[in-house]
Amino acid sequence: MEKKASKLSMTIEDMRALLQQSLKPKRYQHSIRVYETALKMAEHFHADRQKVALAALLHDCGRQIPKEESVAKAKELEIPVDTVEEAQPILLHAKLGVYYAVHKYGVSPDNTEVLDAIRYHSTGTADMTETAKIVFLADLIEPGRDFEGVEEIREASFQDLDKGMLLSYDNTIRYLLEDGLLIHPDAIAGYNQMAAKCKTVQNKKGKK
Ligand SMILES: [Fe+2]
Ligand SMILES: [Fe+2]
Repeated sequence: MEKKASKLSMTIEDMRALLQQSLKPKRYQHSIRVYETALKMAEHFHADRQKVALAALLHDCGRQIPKEESVAKAKELEIPVDTVEEAQPILLHAKLGVYYAVHKYGVSPDNTEVLDAIRYHSTGTADMTETAKIVFLADLIEPGRDFEGVEEIREASFQDLDKGMLLSYDNTIRYLLEDGLLIHPDAIAGYNQMAAKCKTVQNKKGKK
């Protein structure tokens, strides 16, 4: 009981220290850049700073499990593994991250906004909260990221989160297709929602 109580009172600094011990240096440094980028976005969009900070810092905490071991680990923890995750186990770090956020970093299981942001940071999904969109985008646009189209996504993400999301899905899905990889249904659901929404806006603009 006592142990649990101390975990719940873990500060962001405590979490940072624990994360540094748990992840490889490159992954830890990436996490810090995502955290800093997400906080800039939270300020820009007047989002919930505390929730964004927690989710951004911990988004990759599931990476403490090597991808080769993640299917076995998920099964051991009774985390459901779908067919796409079975084929591309790297995706499982998001679900494992939810587990470690609660059991290792003391995030309350009721803090669904933070846990869902961690859960969907890799695939995206439909009906994401502002916190989840910020974490998803910060993960892609943090200053260490360098891929074709990143500048466009960076710019869009600070203009309008949905526009940033649509460009991100577009870019990621193209990359997955080019590499012959599977596309998670959550990503398709997220893409469809953003494409329909942004298209409606465009159509309305066109009619004016
Ligand atoms: Fe990740
Ligand atoms: Fe990440």
